[in-house]
Amino acid sequence: MRTVTVNASKKYDVFIEKGLVSKSGEIIKNLASSRKAAVITDNTVAGLYLKTVVDSMKENGFEVHTFSFPAGEASKCHRTLIAVYDFLAEAQITRSDVIVALGGGVVGDLVGYAAATYLRGVDFVQIPTTLLAQVDSSVGGKTAVDINAGKNLVGAFKQPLCVICDTDALSTLSEDIFADGMGEVVKYGMIKSATLFEKLLSGDVKDSLEDVIAECVSIKRDVVEADEFEKGDRMLLNFGHTLGHAIEKYYNFSGISHGKAVAIGMAEFTRLAEEKGLCKKGTFEKLKKCLEKNLLPFSCDISLKELAPLCLSDKKRKSDGINIVLCSEVGKSFIKKLGIDEFYDFLNVR
Ligand SMILES: NC(=O)c1ccc[n+]([C@@H]2O[C@H](COP(=O)([O-])OP(=O)(O)OC[C@H]3O[C@@H](n4cnc5c(N)ncnc54)[C@H](O)[C@@H]3O)[C@@H](O)[C@H]2O)c1
Repeated sequence: MRTVTVNASKKYDVFIEKGLVSKSGEIIKNLASSRKAAVITDNTVAGLYLKTVVDSMKENGFEVHTFSFPAGEASKCHRTLIAVYDFLAEAQITRSDVIVALGGGVVGDLVGYAAATYLRGVDFVQIPTTLLAQVDSSVGGKTAVDINAGKNLVGAFKQPLCVICDTDALSTLSEDIFADGMGEVVKYGMIKSATLFEKLLSGDVKDSLEDVIAECVSIKRDVVEADEFEKGDRMLLNFGHTLGHAIEKYYNFSGISHGKAVAIGMAEFTRLAEEKGLCKKGTFEKLKKCLEKNLLPFSCDISLKELAPLCLSDKKRKSDGINIVLCSEVGKSFIKKLGIDEFYDFLNVR
């Protein structure tokens, strides 16, 4: 088993191994302060892994209450959140009990936010079941729900008791949802690790899933430990996201997945950075090859002129401009602060 320890405001472990879902009760027993738990998931994951988690928890002496909601981003909203609070109240979950988030990033974000706010905070465990959730959303403590004005606009920082990544759970993902997670994996290679990037270019990730996930989690851990509350370098994790979020917004968050939008965002900013001498020549071609190999797009039909205002309405925007993330070469990233006009110049849209 790979274990990555995160030393954030709270210290916790990320466990990565095949078959861990069936050992979840044993792991949680060692960390929880009571033997009462609420396991919350979506209706797709419920049909796949809920029974295994519940059985494992019961075998380890837990009284378990379960709740599931419809799968998909549309559920990451206040309506579901209230339903989750009502369920927790009905099950008489107290501050000493534990909440388990079983599922992809939607479940992790929403249940994490419920755990951060219900009774002003209840311990929670993440059992991420998508590649994106294992390499990214389950680690680092960001939790959120969406509101009409935009994605993730209401949230809290809440670190879990632990994160349990079962690589076997990824075998039931569609090729498309697996590819979405690869968008974030490629991002880690681009921003911090040329070695990881080369591995993605030359081999099949599915042959070394545990290693790749552990490497991505370690990179995220290092960044989060240095800047838990996103005052500076944590922004590097947003590589590809400024344009990616604009593309998602253009399609009203339903026409393109997050991972694919981020892939296009990384490629476009790298192409522009190279054109302006901010990035080593040849980096865009390498990135393009890597994205194609991992079934991800590198361009889209929407013009940068249409996307520019959407980039500026992102929550990462500052009042006097915008911070964008670029790579000077594969494995090396930096934050560039631009005024609004400079940003338009960068996009060649003035
Ligand atoms: N908190 C963070 O730091 C952070 C970082 C990145 C993304 N996010 C958030 O994560 C969300 C996206 O996460 P996601 O891509 O995991 O989406 P998701 O949770 O919607 O999962 C995608 C689909 O896969 C299904 N699924 C999950 N696990 C499965 C499995 N093992 N087998 C088969 N199907 C499975 C789900 O039911 C869902 O239909 C977004 O809301 C995004 O904002 C958060």
